[in-house]
Amino acid sequence: MQLVVLEDSDAVVSVAAEHIAMFVRMNPSPRLGLATGKTQEGVYQALVEEHLSQRLSFAESRFFMLDEYLGVDPLSSESFQGQLRRTFLDKVNVPHDSLETLDGNAQDIAAESARFESAVVEFGGIDLQLLGIGTNGHIGFNEPGSSFDSRTRAVDLFPETLERNFPEMTSLKTVPRRAISQGLATIAEAGSILLLATGKAKAQAIAAMVSGPLSEKCPASILQLHKSLKVILDEDAASLLNPHLATS
Ligand code: GLP
Repeated sequence: MQLVVLEDSDAVVSVAAEHIAMFVRMNPSPRLGLATGKTQEGVYQALVEEHLSQRLSFAESRFFMLDEYLGVDPLSSESFQGQLRRTFLDKVNVPHDSLETLDGNAQDIAAESARFESAVVEFGGIDLQLLGIGTNGHIGFNEPGSSFDSRTRAVDLFPETLERNFPEMTSLKTVPRRAISQGLATIAEAGSILLLATGKAKAQAIAAMVSGPLSEKCPASILQLHKSLKVILDEDAASLLNPHLATS
């Protein structure tokens, strides 16, 4: 694991965007797994800016979703697909069908999950998976207790995840409570992984992921086994780590 600790979230965003841009430039047909969440928003904005300044083309890239809410219109502002298209894909040079979606409106979520898993294999796997982390250590929507062997499937969301993702909700009834997510085994098969975290609220999850036991209680701890993992943190997210762990 390569652990990079930077001063603040702006630095995390710019170093992460540079890492992704370099990856896209160096690979003739990069296959990128895209995460959603506030932490990633600045990264997508930086990639769009890099593209608009003519320095970065995504023409040969293929994209894969990480997770999606169930029962949400795929293009609504609540859907992860809608967010990815609005903040990133619609603003760069990629055809509409270059995103391998997870359809949370599919009639048969098991079949949709199997279709997605096959698509990943047919395209040759995900080269670089971008990840955030939940305050409870989830990656994708693999909540604590998810099996390290899990594949893409329907999952129930924990109340703390809903509270964080829908801070203005008045009742749990009004928000999606289930999702479809790449499984932990699916995520772990990506050729390389870039995980970003900022803010004190993530410090405990990061400490458990990096220094805690390998345990399904902290789903992100599966990443301790990954051969090509880069973690970029701001000082707040790294505040419960031994400072000597940072590698650059
Ligand atoms: C959601 C997503 C995760 C993401 C997490 C953190 O729950 N399913 O993939 O990592 O939120 O999001 P944020 O960056 O907004 O804290």
